[in-house]
Amino acid sequence: MKLTDCHNIDDFRRLAKQRLPWPVFDYIDGAADDEITKARNTSAFDEVDLVPNVLAGVGTIDTSCSIMGRKSALPLMLSPTALQRAFHRDGERAVAKAAEKFGVWFGISSLATHSIEEIAELTSGPKLFQLYVHKDKGLNASMIERCQAAKFDAIALTVDTIVSGKRERCLRSGFTTPPRFTASALWSYATRPRWTLDYVFGPKFRLPNLDAHVQEGSGKAVSIQDYFNTMLDVDMDWDTAARIRQDWGGKFALKGVMSVADARRAVEIGADAIMISNHGGRQLDGSRAPFDQLREIVDEVGGEIEIILDGGVRRGTHVLKSLAAGATAASGGRLYLYALAAAGQPGVERAVNILKEEIERAMRLMGVTSVDQLTPDRLRWR
Ligand code: FNR
Ligand code: LAC
Repeated sequence: MKLTDCHNIDDFRRLAKQRLPWPVFDYIDGAADDEITKARNTSAFDEVDLVPNVLAGVGTIDTSCSIMGRKSALPLMLSPTALQRAFHRDGERAVAKAAEKFGVWFGISSLATHSIEEIAELTSGPKLFQLYVHKDKGLNASMIERCQAAKFDAIALTVDTIVSGKRERCLRSGFTTPPRFTASALWSYATRPRWTLDYVFGPKFRLPNLDAHVQEGSGKAVSIQDYFNTMLDVDMDWDTAARIRQDWGGKFALKGVMSVADARRAVEIGADAIMISNHGGRQLDGSRAPFDQLREIVDEVGGEIEIILDGGVRRGTHVLKSLAAGATAASGGRLYLYALAAAGQPGVERAVNILKEEIERAMRLMGVTSVDQLTPDRLRWR
């Protein structure tokens, strides 16, 4: 299988599986406990049907929208994800360049393998920094200041990761950051020489947004579970979020809001956006899918705050359904991560282009010429 054989996100997943050692693939693909929430995140879209209008004159369509004050060519964002250098030697650089090319937002994680400054230098496109609040207060302040100096467009504070989800695939594989060669996976590393040689001889694996403050994760190998459980601030609360919002001063999103009450509080602390998300099912298994929860939140705070649906998106029609149910945009991680792992920047570009074409095609088939025409009456719940 090669890149040109990939026609949908699942195809990239299969190619990534071929190319990555299994502990790395399972880190991306895996989720918490029984992975029920991860599966539901995508299957939730099947509960709803699109109702097309015909004869609408759809020769010219406009797929653009505005997200946190910047124009986006598509109502689609690339969510922040950690450790990208472990998936492909170009890591976040590849994603940043692909996002710029398509005029869409992307995010880098606190646990990114390229620095805030390097990413800012690479692209003037819309970009956010995802903040994990650490116990080390100096580290938190430093990340915010670096984002200010580098003129990042937004910070997304992740609020669903107070402790790590129980990721059983990672428990079995012994996946760590930086990745280590474990005995049980040696055959897998040996039979994926392209990945292994790139990892060993390519750019050194670092977490440059935090390694001046903490050793864990780059100097010292730890599991993501241990990293979260020892490094992050379990006492983080609404005051913490409000303070960060103030210290940062720029566009601000809360990532991982699921309840109506929390969406209301996000409005109250002056957040510009919420990302309705369960972290791709990697945290609380059994929690509701973002798409299932979207309508309630739109009913409560729609029009007062931007609402980004994050998780489970694998198709252009999933994006359309999200918008019709009231989201400002849809966002996802694995939708570009499999492609990054499969083929670097050309892979991410191909994945985003497939979604772009699916969005355009579906808009035409729905008889809409702009994204604001996707309204609730264009959907029927089964
Ligand atoms: C993530 N996600 C994530 N979120 C975050 O706030 N900080 C992070 O560092 C990461 N890292 C990360 C790594 C990997 C491998 C994955 C798959 C996900 C969650 C991510 O931003 C997003 O919420 C989910 O990926 C959404 O679900 P889908 O689109 O993957 O189904
Ligand atoms: C994850 C992180 C790092 O989901 O947020 O693995």
